[in-house]
Amino acid sequence: MELKSIAEVSDLRGKVVLVRASCNVPLVDGKVRNSFRLRRALPTLKYLKEAGAKVIVISHIGREVDETLLPVFEELATAIDMKWGGKVTDPLFTEKKAALNDGDILFCENLRQDVREEENDDSLGALLAEGVDLYVNDAFAEAHREHASTYGVAKLLLAYAGLTLIEEVTELQKVMQPNHPSLFLLGGAKFETKMPLVEKYLALYDHVFVGGALANDVLKARGFEVGTSLVSEVSLNDAPFLWSEKMLVPVDVIVEGPRGVVTKPADQVLPDEKIFDMGPETVELLTRYIAEAKTILWNGPFGNYEAGFEESTEAVAKLIADSDAFSVLGGGDTVAAVEKLGLNEKFGFISIGGGSMLTFMEHGSTPVLDLLKK
Ligand code: 3PG
Repeated sequence: MELKSIAEVSDLRGKVVLVRASCNVPLVDGKVRNSFRLRRALPTLKYLKEAGAKVIVISHIGREVDETLLPVFEELATAIDMKWGGKVTDPLFTEKKAALNDGDILFCENLRQDVREEENDDSLGALLAEGVDLYVNDAFAEAHREHASTYGVAKLLLAYAGLTLIEEVTELQKVMQPNHPSLFLLGGAKFETKMPLVEKYLALYDHVFVGGALANDVLKARGFEVGTSLVSEVSLNDAPFLWSEKMLVPVDVIVEGPRGVVTKPADQVLPDEKIFDMGPETVELLTRYIAEAKTILWNGPFGNYEAGFEESTEAVAKLIADSDAFSVLGGGDTVAAVEKLGLNEKFGFISIGGGSMLTFMEHGSTPVLDLLKK
């Protein structure tokens, strides 16, 4: 898939360019906790600034209407000079837009404060397009969302892909044609959204390791007790891949129950226990597969990261960092683990996508990306 790149537009000076960026980052006590996505927003913004465009940045944060992008603006403004644009519906925004000089950047408030954003309402798309010459989508993390800022407005304007979006698509396409032996590591939860992906990668890759809460579904369908562990809404009893030899699952787990936190074989969980992480024998098992692999694709943590079960995820991160494989990873908690360990540079590519990365890997495109094709 080839996308129309903003780098192919010759004269950007004085042009009003609307950039959809991925600024949905975790905040703690009103401060940005992980700035990975923001760092990845910079190349396109710097490029446009240097080219003399008048830039308007639109994005979202969180899922509640009262969440604000102000802390994100403050963080980003330490790396590149920009002004706060406020809400796009505010008459003041129109004034600020009209006053933009060449090379200025105006950063707008959380679009999801307006319900029309997620509804992809035409009126919001039209409002965003007003007075704009070009649209740039650099928001790979929202490439699976057909919203007013990612989809509706792109249909009204000359639409291009940003530099980071192009990089995401290029790198992820590489791992869709893996070198063998290849290993796909999938963590997290919700098998209901991941069935076709697992099926596809069992056909494409040599091994698919299913960890995190997803593994509970496999263990349960294979007839093992999973106690009070988190399971998906969908059952894997009839899944064609249930007993596939290419699918790997944890051989030991860390459970919490009346007897405290215990590490035990995966087939010995008791009804009053809850699985929170995979154990050291599973990490040991993965060591060999990771060392032999030429392509490694990883999305999603293996332990319950929010509850502090970070051990196996971090152990796997270190193993991949030490391997010679071309490795690609994505997903908020997975990236946070790698960043915490300072291992970013040891991976082939780190995606800003979470759900969007999985959607892209499953379908090879999305309706939002289709609009940006050459
Ligand atoms: C993400 O973090 O995966 C993207 O920003 C999309 O956010 P959403 O799932 O709230 O649409």
